[in-house]
Amino acid sequence: MQVTTSEKWNNHTAITEFILLGFGAANELQILLFLVFAVIYIFTMTGNILIVILVVSDQHLHTPMYYFLGNLSFLEVCYSSNILPKMLGRFLTGDKTISVSGCFTQLFCFGCLICVECYLLSLMSFDRYVAICKPLHYATIMNGRIILYLLVGSWICAVSISFLIVYRVSQLSFCGPDEIDHFFCDFSPLLQLSCSDISHVKLLALIFGSINILPPFILTITSYVCIITAILRISSTTGRQKAFATCSSHLIVVTLFYGTLTIVYILPNTSTLGELKKVFSVPYAVLTPMVNPLIYSLRNKEVKESLKRLWIDSSFRGDIKRSNPLLLRRG
Ligand SMILES: *[C@@H]1O[C@H](CO)[C@@H](O)[C@H](O)[C@H]1NC(C)=O
Repeated sequence: MQVTTSEKWNNHTAITEFILLGFGAANELQILLFLVFAVIYIFTMTGNILIVILVVSDQHLHTPMYYFLGNLSFLEVCYSSNILPKMLGRFLTGDKTISVSGCFTQLFCFGCLICVECYLLSLMSFDRYVAICKPLHYATIMNGRIILYLLVGSWICAVSISFLIVYRVSQLSFCGPDEIDHFFCDFSPLLQLSCSDISHVKLLALIFGSINILPPFILTITSYVCIITAILRISSTTGRQKAFATCSSHLIVVTLFYGTLTIVYILPNTSTLGELKKVFSVPYAVLTPMVNPLIYSLRNKEVKESLKRLWIDSSFRGDIKRSNPLLLRRG
């Protein structure tokens, strides 16, 4: 094993695994927490996988908005699978250890996915802004090639930023204590355990965090303000109410996502805030992936129709098979 200089000098043993303290609840509560998060995970996976299937398979949904929604759902599947299965395992077995490499991998995946999520949410609000406020330019601004570039660009940006930060974190030495006061390997709780000088990593993360969170946040809010102003000019009351309800639910979810991210990653670590940060991570780490498909896609008329088509289609095929097996065998 490679021993770094600081470990030699401090006469510390190198840490090979961390302990994730989780919610620190009593043993009886662990089962309750397991059930709650298992339900959240099942809902998240079902909703998002359904949307990916619909967007990929249904020709009617091959438009920019649904490409974004499909990509968002795919992202949410990866995102919650990075955090929840391991967390559920810990509730069930009580084994709270995680290897150092496992921890860094989780941190890297989390960093990538959350960056892409920030970009995607803002791209989606921009897409709606163009559709509602600049409808005549929609086809030129949001064409297939531009969307592909935007998506690929988001992933490249996210992977490189996340790699850079996790690489710097992995160079720090950890010499104990090994208890991470969180429910997954997140950046600041991990950093607090290091016995190296962490000021440069912190600065790097603050700069990248601000670049990743604030501009998408501002773009999103601006888009929605423009959209809502446009909606208020609609003359029919029911149309206005419906559009307003849709937009405000998007706005609430987006604000909750970026708001808690800002509190956790950009605001300084004061003693009162430090304790709350674990609670403030629940919305963006666990809840957004679950509510996004409900808020953005499944309430949508076109998605409902597509679901109906998929359902009728599959039951129709089932009927043929059941009632006339020869037909299929010959065909
Ligand atoms: C993601 O977006 C691209 C278009 O840019 C599209 O071809 C692809 O089907 C989308 N993926 C999903 C899962 O919707």
